[in-house]
Amino acid sequence: MTKAWRDVGSLYQIYPRSFRDLNGDGVGDLNGITLKMDYLSDLGVDAIWISPFFTSPMTDFGYDVADYQNVDPVFGGLDDFRMLLDEAHARDIKVMIDLVPCHTSDQHPWFVESRSGRGNPKRDWYVWRDGNDGHEPNNWISLAGGKSWTFDADSGQYYLHSFLPTQPDLNWDNPEVCLAIKDVVRFWFDMGVDGMRVDAIWGISKDPELRDDTVNYDFHGDSNSYGAYIHDHCKHGPHFQEYLHELASVCDEYDDKQMVFEFYPDERLGDIWQQYHDVIHVHPKATAFFMEHRQNDWHGEHTGWNIMNYVKAAGENIPFFCLGNHDQPRVTSRLGLPRSRALQFLNLLCPGVSVMYYGDEIGMEDVDLTQHDAQDGFHHSLQDDRNRARTPMQWNSSRYAGFANVLPWLPVHSNRKQVNVAKETKDPSSLLWLCRKLLELRHELPILRYGSMEKLDTGNGFVLGFRRQLDGRQLQIYINFADSVQTVWLPNSGRVIIGTNPDIRVDGDVLQLPGYGGVLIDIT
Ligand code: NOJ
Repeated sequence: MTKAWRDVGSLYQIYPRSFRDLNGDGVGDLNGITLKMDYLSDLGVDAIWISPFFTSPMTDFGYDVADYQNVDPVFGGLDDFRMLLDEAHARDIKVMIDLVPCHTSDQHPWFVESRSGRGNPKRDWYVWRDGNDGHEPNNWISLAGGKSWTFDADSGQYYLHSFLPTQPDLNWDNPEVCLAIKDVVRFWFDMGVDGMRVDAIWGISKDPELRDDTVNYDFHGDSNSYGAYIHDHCKHGPHFQEYLHELASVCDEYDDKQMVFEFYPDERLGDIWQQYHDVIHVHPKATAFFMEHRQNDWHGEHTGWNIMNYVKAAGENIPFFCLGNHDQPRVTSRLGLPRSRALQFLNLLCPGVSVMYYGDEIGMEDVDLTQHDAQDGFHHSLQDDRNRARTPMQWNSSRYAGFANVLPWLPVHSNRKQVNVAKETKDPSSLLWLCRKLLELRHELPILRYGSMEKLDTGNGFVLGFRRQLDGRQLQIYINFADSVQTVWLPNSGRVIIGTNPDIRVDGDVLQLPGYGGVLIDIT
């Protein structure tokens, strides 16, 4: 029996293609993850989330599922997954997997049937419509680029896909779809999986009349771009919360399961914190990742209020704080190492669950891909290719960074000799050491996991501060957003518990923080 979700303090995201290749094909696999379970345990993570490893033609690297209840041979088999689960649980690590409930692969038997003719019983499991005067049924644009509709010449209708044409949208307005997806969840929960990260939920309900999205006149790019429209009809439909509630209610059938929604609020559709609140509160066992750091503009006040607003939106449900994921440029590439180190420090001191994307604990950076390496079907510019942030985990300085013995599916970063687990394990000043220490502290100090969090007025515009409190104990967090030393007067004297740099000291009630420094102080 592993710890309860309420007691989980951290979640580590594994992109399975890139963690460890054991079977020698240059692509990571489940046995590779199992092999590294001691690393995860020593690091101090309480739970892992594994991105999709299900049977898939891989047009979107697994987010195009052709069989929800099986493992793609590139990753291994069901027995390998069972072993992974046992090994994780033996170390008190929970396992969360990725559920993709709003679309399947076009190779999924459900879609193959649905496509086979207008009269097929599964026709209505997907969204099929007649054309509009020889054009698409409406103006919706896919997040993967281009129109959201593809014409099927055999049946003479268009089908809807919010992502690639190989990812047709399931029609949640048909109750059979909901039942089928809930059975998928039960399959994995019965096996012992502890939770689901739920993919791309915003389109689970759409405007029933499929009306055009409103044109965004503030946008001055290509009219076929996603940004050219305000997405007021293609997502967040009238049954949005109802369908999410229905999905999350599978958790009620079990002791302790958790669902974490992938959700990016849309500021053009109203207050983003209200949107977070509404999604998080569809069910007590549901929540949504905090994703605002992905566009962190390195402004202390903005960062502080974003965190506070999210904490408030989460309320009694568990907050999950992210710095990035497999769809975003890596935090170290976005902000540079000193700033990202400070932000990681802060993220590991926030309440609830602190989420870490594989490799961020050692400061891995995005790789510059060549045209030859570009494989992401979503983006046609090398700069935006999401695979830049999905390159092989850098375990050591060897040619393929200890990820594989053969040429990996994506290039290893040229910084592998400086940025790798083996080297950082021996270096007390490394990011890896800092992350380990912070994860250790999350276990030692319940206040970090359960305590309240309030923003402080630090009296210094460059320094962001928070107060954490539990059972009469008080800790304070300070982060210097400037590159120069900043002084802060504390309410009373305090003791440094941990800092981003070893030499951070408090002298009476005076704190001197180096540029981009962060510190946790015991004020009690
Ligand atoms: C969100 C996933 O994180 C992303 O990688 C994927 O391409 C889309 N959803 C479609 O499933």
